[in-house]
Amino acid sequence: MSEERKKILVVGSANMDFSMNMYKLPERGETVIDDGGVAYTPGGKGANAALAVTRLGADAVLCARLGADIHGQKLYNYYKSSNIDTSYVKVDREHPTGLAVVIREGEGDNRIVVYPGANSYLTADAVREAFDCNPDALYLGFEIPFDIALAAANIAASRDIPVFIDAAPAKKDYDLESLPRVEVFSPNEAETLEYTGIAPGNMEASLRAALALYRRVKCKYVVIKQGARGAFLYDGKRYTSIPAMRAGKTVDTTAAGDAFTAGLAVEYLYNGGDIKGAVKYGCAAGAIAVTREGAASSVPTAEEVADLLG
Ligand code: RIB
Repeated sequence: MSEERKKILVVGSANMDFSMNMYKLPERGETVIDDGGVAYTPGGKGANAALAVTRLGADAVLCARLGADIHGQKLYNYYKSSNIDTSYVKVDREHPTGLAVVIREGEGDNRIVVYPGANSYLTADAVREAFDCNPDALYLGFEIPFDIALAAANIAASRDIPVFIDAAPAKKDYDLESLPRVEVFSPNEAETLEYTGIAPGNMEASLRAALALYRRVKCKYVVIKQGARGAFLYDGKRYTSIPAMRAGKTVDTTAAGDAFTAGLAVEYLYNGGDIKGAVKYGCAAGAIAVTREGAASSVPTAEEVADLLG
């Protein structure tokens, strides 16, 4: 990595995660007693990415909205102690901090339901103000209102700031066509299916899905995250599949996608835009994240990723 530190503005969500380990999901009308364990831990796709950015060696500025409650206070303290710049984290006196219910099953797979709370009230003014930090890049997720994400992307585009989009969660009716040109657009397989109607389960389907995304989003690269299969990269002409890495037993996939896209963005900024190297780096960051429980807490450091990459 070069000496000069890069600064990434993350405009996105901040949640408290309430996680449960479950052996068996209840059927409709059924009550299940399960002592697999519960925990409240920091999460939210935006905040997870901001933490990954700092751990992976760049400066993270988080633009998000918390409630004026105990969860918000705990998250704010966590960001401060994790070296995330909180200058643009706003406090909402009317709406509670976002809460995600994360149910972890079997091999570490998860199901997540998010009550967005204050995340839904992030404003365009707050986003505009956050650009005062003069970022080298903008990292965006869709766990905030789409029009706010769009406003952030437009400001970045008007200043020639590269934009990295982790396109989660997905909704079919998002007006992706209205986004300005972005550097990287990265959904996972389920999100790709939602956006395109194509499940990218093999090379041929991945290419069709990537083409469909490329038609909808003005971007330099489409990167489809494919979990244990790695990632599919398409640049409008060429495509390639980058294999997943393995760092140990998978215990919890929560936030692996956040670690992947944040890792990709950090490495891309430091390596002069080598997209294949950046995707490989993202795969390594995600591979480590799945070996640990929790969301923000599972995100690896730059040293750990360097060790895995050898
Ligand atoms: O990507 C994982 C995150 O999704 C969790 O931390 C949860 O808060 C939801 O936003």
